[in-house]
Amino acid sequence: MADVHDTETLAPDAAGIARAAELLLGGGLVSFPTETVYGLGGVATDDVAVARIFEAKGRPHFNPLIAHVPDLDAVSRIAELTGRAHDLAQAFWPGPLTLVLPTRPDAGLSPLVSAGLPTVAVRVPDHPLAQKLLRAVGRPVVAPSANPSGRISPTETAHVLAGLGGQIEAVLDGGPCAVGVESTIVGFNPEPVLLRPGGLPTEAIEDALGAPLARRTEGAGINAPGQLASHYAPDARVRLDAETARPGERMLGFGAVDGEMNLSPSGDLVEAAANLFRMLHALDRAGDAPIAVAKVPETGLGRAINDRLRRAAAPRD
Ligand code: TXA
Ligand code: MG
Repeated sequence: MADVHDTETLAPDAAGIARAAELLLGGGLVSFPTETVYGLGGVATDDVAVARIFEAKGRPHFNPLIAHVPDLDAVSRIAELTGRAHDLAQAFWPGPLTLVLPTRPDAGLSPLVSAGLPTVAVRVPDHPLAQKLLRAVGRPVVAPSANPSGRISPTETAHVLAGLGGQIEAVLDGGPCAVGVESTIVGFNPEPVLLRPGGLPTEAIEDALGAPLARRTEGAGINAPGQLASHYAPDARVRLDAETARPGERMLGFGAVDGEMNLSPSGDLVEAAANLFRMLHALDRAGDAPIAVAKVPETGLGRAINDRLRRAAAPRD
């Protein structure tokens, strides 16, 4: 077990960024904001730091992690970025897109980053603090969402501290995350394949490719390990596609289907994604009664929202 620490809350200024970089380069774990969710950062070339991420999250398996870098130059030092992957990088980075790419032999990443796979998931986040921090560190930083394994992802500093306070060195406080769901993950088979719906709508990727995006299917030869069915789980049980709350349930509304809280009263999927994890955290903190969730359309960011909600509602083991 790693030592228990007093987790520092760092201000979003030059001193806070410098302290965060110093802690990371010393092997520490620092949570930092991205436009999607807060990440639990560790330097990707540091075996001990990467191992501590799994320990702090209580991850049951060594799922591969996403390496975060500030720009395309830094990407090209760790991975092969060619063909369609390069086109998508040009179109969407920095932004809420992760590409699974062949790892360069001289990348120098800890083997735990990719869990033994010949590929590495790479992302260039579009958040000013993440950008400044990655430049200050000067090395790739792996960052899964900064929550205990299987729990709701954090979109605010308070969520990070509630889940991981005392187990990590610091959190860089950037206020709420704008997108609110994790990045969309695309792999190459060699055709582009959607591995995880997320903050970049699939439609935008298909527009850029000028072709439909293949979906991940069993036996497609490419996998997104860690897509456990019961994930993002609040303590309370979750019921989907509700039209009204049943007795004893609390209702999370969407659009005209209102509730105790509403993901977006106007039915805006961007607003709903940004609110999703914060509202699930708030409902979870407020009690144990089951949570009924209104139907969310399966289009644009609705795909990512529904993916997270289905996992929250999946049977627990
Ligand atoms: O928005 C995000 O992507 C957030 C923020 C913090 O950047 N990060 C995040 O990381 O969601 P994480 O560790 O929860 O997501 C990693 C997932 C794995 O579970 C797996 O599905 C996929 O990325 N992945 C990573 N490396 C892979 C590889 N080599 N091949 C296939 N899938 C991979
Ligand atoms: Mg996560």
